[in-house]
Amino acid sequence: MTSTNEIRRSFLDFFGSREHEIVPSAPLVPYNDPTLMFTNAGMVPFKNVFTGLETRPYRRATSSQKCVRAGGKHNDLDNVGYTARHHTFFEMLGNFSFGDYFKEQAILNAWTLLTKVWGLPEEKLLVTVYHTDDEAFALWQKIAGLPESKIIRIPTKDNFWAMGDDGPCGPCSEIFFDHGDHIWGGPPGSADEDGDRFIEIWNLVFMQFEQTAGEITGNLPRPSIDTGMGLERIAAVMQGEHDNYDTDTFRALIAASESLTGVKAQGEQRASHRVIADHLRSSSFLLADGVLPSNEGRGYVLRRIMRRAMRHAHLLGAKDPLMHRLVGGLVTEMGQAFPELGRAQPLIEETLLREEVQFRRTLANGLRLLDEATGTLGEGDKLPGATAFRLYDTFGFPYDLTEDALRARGISVDRDGFDSAMAQQKAAARAAWKGSGQAADSEVWFDIAERHGATEFTGYTATVGEGVVVALVRDGKEVDAASAGDSVTVLTNQTPFYGESGGQTGDTGTITGADGLVLTVSDTAKPLGRLHAHSATVEAGTIRVGDAVVLTVDVARRDATRANHSATHLLHAALRNRLGAHVTQKGSLVAPDRLRFDYSHPTALSAEDIAVIEAEVNAEIRANEAVTTRLMTPDDAIEAGAMALFGEKYGDEVRVLTMGRVTDKPYSLELCGGTHVHALGDIGVFRIIGESAVSSGVRRIEAVTGEGARQWLVGREEALKATASLLRTTPDDVEARVAALLDERRKLERELAEARKALALGGGGAKAETADEDIGGVKFAGQVLEGLDPKDLRGLLDQAKQRLGSGVAVIVAVNEGKASIAAAVTEDLLGRISAVDLVRAGVAALGGKGGGGRPDMAQGGGPDGDKAGEALAAVRAVLAG
Ligand code: ALA
Repeated sequence: MTSTNEIRRSFLDFFGSREHEIVPSAPLVPYNDPTLMFTNAGMVPFKNVFTGLETRPYRRATSSQKCVRAGGKHNDLDNVGYTARHHTFFEMLGNFSFGDYFKEQAILNAWTLLTKVWGLPEEKLLVTVYHTDDEAFALWQKIAGLPESKIIRIPTKDNFWAMGDDGPCGPCSEIFFDHGDHIWGGPPGSADEDGDRFIEIWNLVFMQFEQTAGEITGNLPRPSIDTGMGLERIAAVMQGEHDNYDTDTFRALIAASESLTGVKAQGEQRASHRVIADHLRSSSFLLADGVLPSNEGRGYVLRRIMRRAMRHAHLLGAKDPLMHRLVGGLVTEMGQAFPELGRAQPLIEETLLREEVQFRRTLANGLRLLDEATGTLGEGDKLPGATAFRLYDTFGFPYDLTEDALRARGISVDRDGFDSAMAQQKAAARAAWKGSGQAADSEVWFDIAERHGATEFTGYTATVGEGVVVALVRDGKEVDAASAGDSVTVLTNQTPFYGESGGQTGDTGTITGADGLVLTVSDTAKPLGRLHAHSATVEAGTIRVGDAVVLTVDVARRDATRANHSATHLLHAALRNRLGAHVTQKGSLVAPDRLRFDYSHPTALSAEDIAVIEAEVNAEIRANEAVTTRLMTPDDAIEAGAMALFGEKYGDEVRVLTMGRVTDKPYSLELCGGTHVHALGDIGVFRIIGESAVSSGVRRIEAVTGEGARQWLVGREEALKATASLLRTTPDDVEARVAALLDERRKLERELAEARKALALGGGGAKAETADEDIGGVKFAGQVLEGLDPKDLRGLLDQAKQRLGSGVAVIVAVNEGKASIAAAVTEDLLGRISAVDLVRAGVAALGGKGGGGRPDMAQGGGPDGDKAGEALAAVRAVLAG
């Protein structure tokens, strides 16, 4: 028996030896085509090569392309398990000519491979051609010697192949294999063609035209060839089987699920094993290509596939999660041809297990509800849509899973009822939002989200990607187009632009398109938490709803933002290590040039705290561990020790970011939807530049990383150099120089004070009043001294007392507009005159209050230095009694 792996190899070698480049399968997510959910044919990765938009260093190629047909236009999901040839995942063998050989060589190659290399009996083969394609008809006669009866002209679009409404297309010729008259069915074009006897194995497309919106709009630059042969079908033919599920790969996968469940793939259980084998393949390959289960877009298709398989595992009586235990067997079968499968094995197993654990929590209750709701229903009846909606909403049953569960009993589901229950729920959500008064202008976002669903964010892995414009918004209203000079908010079906959320700022960049269209994006917001709204200005051209555009994120800015976001997580962990587990995040801002982190803690960080925290974060950066992302339920994540972030709303599942070295647990484990570095070394360096209080119990740290930190350090050094140059020294000597200057200053201050005192004593000073007076028989010396240090007052008054022998001395010292007043009374006069009374009168005149001391010596002050004369006058008045 020729194994499936051998058939793939033989096909690629056949064309490889005929000057075809052997091209590895492209990923299942077609980054070059925003209109496709998944790669669904071998030619998808070459679409732009056919149309001439892209050139490659080869003009012939061959591949075995991974394809998924589930969700979107080609959807085989509902049939899988119940038929011989439906798959959600399959491989398409193909050979391609980009303007090189055309019909004759394509037919010759195909016929040679099938009959000469693989030895299929010629009499079992027959072909179809497009009804007007006389050339192909004649070539089949000439090359294969087929009789006219075995070259069937087909007038329908079955023999005119198009990638979609847009893209390359052309007439095609299909090769059929006759499985024999023991199986019912007629040749193509006959009344019995829907039977299973004649099976199409290979489609040769003679690519000639390009179509737009379903209309042929021109010729390809040169006639080309695209062929597609389902590997699973040809394996069945070559292994003498009629049913794809009886080929070696599927037998191995089904044997594994038989042995794990202890249930044979017979009777009613056969379909379940087939569903499991098929869905295991599509789920694993989608996960390996970066799709993760979610409730929107591609992720939701994956979830539907996974849950459908998991219900069948449950049907087989599996007591524990099953799917993840089958991954090893799949890797054995297919890991050599697709190394990405082996690389992603841990992620695939973990994701399948998590999903199955989560789904099984509600599965039994959901099935019970389904049983109750259908107890009285029989063949031909319909399950009410509202029940299907409840199963979806409460128990996580995708719509098609409910359909699948009732299929065997001939019960269908009221799709309209389901849709209207869904619409009601959305309307209620809209009303609740409006009622909350959060955003009066949110109406337009609800309209867009209801029509097109959430924007699919591709920016965790890519910074460039294509998207289709689903809406344009100007001044709060939807518009059809915007032209050069206009400001417009652009919404696409998918985007790599991060919309501002969780403290991380939105991305900036450009949007470009056909006919010279260029927009600059100045910010990206995230209205309703699920749309990515690009605030843009049209620089050139006109953008229209329906356009396919290329979205390019400003990578340098995004990288700087990533570094700051990852550093925020490290800082959070370092703070907790240093200060304790009471530290929780109270808010954050992650911008390209800086980060800000608010956290609960009662007191300021000491210089030592800051040094330790900064050193710890930088040590993790230098250890350069990879940053890993996992999807988990919020509960599981928190149980695993993840710190939930402030202000984030968590859905059914969360992204869990693990960073840093692992001791008993990873250095940092947080729930986060932001974008992060791949390895911590990408952060470069981390520097704390500010520590302050936000409110009582909440502190704030500001920090910079990477290039931002470098620029900050350069700025510091420039400042130091400028200082050194002012000081006429070098940066190294600045400290000593400043210390010397401070010493000198202290010395000068001392000298100045001495000089002022000397001046005051010497009777100098422009405003001094020095003449002794006689007031009511008491000798009085009153002085106003500018610039005198108040602490010199006492000494001066003592000297004045000595000079007077008997009397009263008062000095008002004026300094920087304010005044101090001090009074001294010689001993002989005590009992008659109190220095305190004198000072109080003076203080009042100086606009101050109080003043105090002892009867022989008192002191006070006031704000009005220019009232010094009045203060002395007030003292005289008291003396004069
Ligand atoms: N692109 C062609 C197909 O998918 C070969 O059938």
